[in-house]
Amino acid sequence: MTFVQYLRILRRQWFVVLLLTLLATCGAAAYTRRQAPVFESSTQLFVSAGGTQTDISELQTGSTFTQQRVKSYADVVTSPSVAEAVITSLGLTDTPQELASRITVTNPLDTVLLDISVRDGDPARAAAIANAVAREFPKFVALLETPAGRVASPVKVSVTQEAAVPAAPVSPRLPLNLALGLLVGLGLGVGAAVLRDQLNTTVGGAGDLEAMSGAVPLGVVPFDSDTRTSPLVTADHFGPRAEAFRTLRTNLQFADVDNPPRLIVMTSALPSEGKTTTACNLALTLALSGARVVLVDGDLRKPAVGTLLGLDSGAGLTNVLAGQHALEDVVLGVQRDTLAVLPSGPTPPNPSELLGSQHMASLLRTLAERYDVVVIDAPPLLPVTDAAVLSALADGALLVVRHGKTRRDEAERALKALAAVNAKLLGTVLNCAPKARRRNGSGGYGYGYGGYGERPAETTSPVVPEPAVRTARAGVRPRAVAPGGELTPPAPAPAPAPESADSADDAAAPAARPATAVAGAADGSLARMLGSPPPSSVLPAPSPAPADDLPWSQVVPDPGAQARSGLRRRVISRARG
Ligand SMILES: Nc1ncnc2c1ncn2[C@@H]1O[C@H](COP(=O)(O)OP(=O)(O)OP(=O)(O)O)[C@@H](O)[C@H]1O
Ligand SMILES: [Mg+2]
Repeated sequence: MTFVQYLRILRRQWFVVLLLTLLATCGAAAYTRRQAPVFESSTQLFVSAGGTQTDISELQTGSTFTQQRVKSYADVVTSPSVAEAVITSLGLTDTPQELASRITVTNPLDTVLLDISVRDGDPARAAAIANAVAREFPKFVALLETPAGRVASPVKVSVTQEAAVPAAPVSPRLPLNLALGLLVGLGLGVGAAVLRDQLNTTVGGAGDLEAMSGAVPLGVVPFDSDTRTSPLVTADHFGPRAEAFRTLRTNLQFADVDNPPRLIVMTSALPSEGKTTTACNLALTLALSGARVVLVDGDLRKPAVGTLLGLDSGAGLTNVLAGQHALEDVVLGVQRDTLAVLPSGPTPPNPSELLGSQHMASLLRTLAERYDVVVIDAPPLLPVTDAAVLSALADGALLVVRHGKTRRDEAERALKALAAVNAKLLGTVLNCAPKARRRNGSGGYGYGYGGYGERPAETTSPVVPEPAVRTARAGVRPRAVAPGGELTPPAPAPAPAPESADSADDAAAPAARPATAVAGAADGSLARMLGSPPPSSVLPAPSPAPADDLPWSQVVPDPGAQARSGLRRRVISRARG
């Protein structure tokens, strides 16, 4: 592993490093606080011999004698005899061994000095003991060194430095302990971060998806905790999720300009990766660009499109496949004539067979003839075969992969499941990606530039002929949603600015259009968001195709999105590089 790879791991797992460093430092601080303070007091003794001699050679001999003796004296200082004498003189309760263990004696090299240090919990007592040792030790030396028949010892021990009461403890040393804790924590943190990263088998970023699928993800949708309550991007038209879906739309358009996919299956490896949310928002974003879109709930086992869009969907796809209803009877029209929804209908006992039937193939062909894009919300690939069956009938599949949840091997198995039925992988969508930090106005994952919440610099399409709508809505600000979920009238902008197709479509004038369109709609109801008429139970007559019959990908050129997409690719490749 290279140094740069280590740095990347540390950037990904920075919280592990931080956590362990903090824990170790706090542990060191707590340990230090629990330690009783210890004070140290020192005294110094000078040993000399032959105090009555005046001859230089005799003095020299005496000096050599004491240098040799003083080494032994260092051990004698801590002998039980000296310790006992100190204990008696100070009235201490310690045993001689206990006291000796707190006394340290050193003899600096080539000197006749003895440095005696005493440690004690009480600073005054430490000094008293040191001074007592300095008093009692010379007496003991005199006893040892006095030759038989003599009254005085030739060795003299003098105090050169009295012990003073220490002002500060020598232990515990808080700065040292904190520094040690910090270093140990840092080491443990780095080790744990590398280990955690190596053990993490989930898809961690766009780079992982590119390595698996051979192409950068077509979309990177950031995690948004509000998704559960406001799943549709129209709730926050200028937020990062809405921007991510505009980028996905653009990337889909430019994935194959000459032959854009029209039958798109939305699937994932496992449940709850965000297929339905992504399918609904992609369909919505495509419809807002002016393309005629039908969203099919192809998840016959766990249908959720109707609930998510707030549509009252009784009959649907299964009824049509069973020949009980005509397609026109069950398709719900929303958003004028640009977005329609085909609910799933009652749950059948044999979803895979139903979805793989000739009926289904011909139904998809019919839908593809009537609409520019057919987005199909499908079940996950690994538990059931429905999505593979559907993908084989469609132009291809978009694989949604949930960041930090889908394992790499699961995503790879999902890709193999598609390949096994010769289904085309249109691309991948990384969902719930961590929000990138903004640097120079662009996100790390590159979902757009310009401040979130600001009006994106999109231009009006010169191709879609909607002059009346566009003129009426030019310069309209994004609508605020009142607490009750009702739309408040838009405040006119001071100066009309060039509008994107999305902005124009989204900013419908409530006066001209009832806002509460769908009966039983949830708070995030699509029709409510769009300000469209109630869903008809009649297949909306598709509006005439653009005069030159361009493919859907060219219905609304989106230069702003293209620029963002280009930026995004550059950012991702830079991040990988
Ligand atoms: N970008 C996101 N940020 C935060 N939460 C998200 C995001 N996308 C989806 N979710 C949440 O993840 C959950 C699953 O989403 P969704 O129902 O779309 O997944 P699914 O793949 O269709 O699940 P199932 O396999 O059950 O059909 C939902 O609660 C949804 O709100
Ligand atoms: Mg779903």
